[in-house]
Amino acid sequence: MRRFWIGALCAMAIMGTTSAQAARKQVAKPAAQTAPAPAAEAKDAATLEFEKFRAEMEDSNPAELFEMKGAELWKARRGPKDVALAESCDLGQGVGKIEGAYVRMPRYFADADAVMDAERRIVWCMVEKQGFKFDDIAKTPFANENFTPDITNLVTYVAGHSRNMKIAVPLGEPRVREAYEIGKEIAAYRAGPYDFSCSTCHSVDGKRIRMQNLPNLNTPQGAMSGVQGWPGYRMTGGVMLTHQWRMGDCFRQQRFPQPKYASDAIAYLLTYMIGNANGQVYKGPGIKR
Ligand code: HEC
Repeated sequence: MRRFWIGALCAMAIMGTTSAQAARKQVAKPAAQTAPAPAAEAKDAATLEFEKFRAEMEDSNPAELFEMKGAELWKARRGPKDVALAESCDLGQGVGKIEGAYVRMPRYFADADAVMDAERRIVWCMVEKQGFKFDDIAKTPFANENFTPDITNLVTYVAGHSRNMKIAVPLGEPRVREAYEIGKEIAAYRAGPYDFSCSTCHSVDGKRIRMQNLPNLNTPQGAMSGVQGWPGYRMTGGVMLTHQWRMGDCFRQQRFPQPKYASDAIAYLLTYMIGNANGQVYKGPGIKR
């Protein structure tokens, strides 16, 4: 909890918010044995408190800054080929079309002969259409305190154009279905020094580590909380991070070697997780602790 509030306070400092009040509020004790909640995952006091805080933060959602930068990048002619993504990149809805594209990925792209999540697809376009080198992009694919990669801004921009739309991963397509099944196996695969799988930490409702909610990714609700808010402005560290980052970092928590950036393994895992969230409304890039 402490770590979270420290992160929250830093975020507030960065954003110039003066009301540190919210951060100092004591977390109420969980109400004793109230009536059974209708949902499988009853919300405890800490979760409710965080949601209240997030609602306040989202009035000035920092993700929007990154969306604006992404909009410029999407429209600008860039790279060795001097081409704009807006005039060359097809995210599954037609060249340059981004409306609703994010909630319909991962999907199968025949031109790449691969199932791709949004980030992987945009990287593919940057390489194939604009002429950037994959290895250059993969060198620093994720944001840190001093630097936000172009790809992060682009993903955030694209994701923003699926705000309030329903997740619709095309699981009926055979290649996507196959990716889903492999993703499911990856999520259940136990190995490493602790014999962990994703499910070791993520298949029980209401589980926590250091006060972080660990959603059960095998249920529609849990999967959705693993999707909602990503890409997200992470209050811990104050950086904008993507779903690809989240996956990679959890491989680290699992003490596995991290899969290659924008690889099949991550795309399949995302197909499984986002596919499990199908039919639920995505609220756009958000805030994560
Ligand atoms: C050792 C336990 C552990 C393992 C194993 C693990 N995770 Fe996590 N996961 C966490 C923790 C802790 C967090 C919360 C981190 C934070 O917010 O700082 C988290 C967060 C997440 C989130 C974001 C949830 C949200 O609310 O946005 C997703 C998605 C996720 N993990 C997926 C995975 C996947 C996929 C795997 C397998 C590759 C995996 N995790 C393996 C501990 C684990």
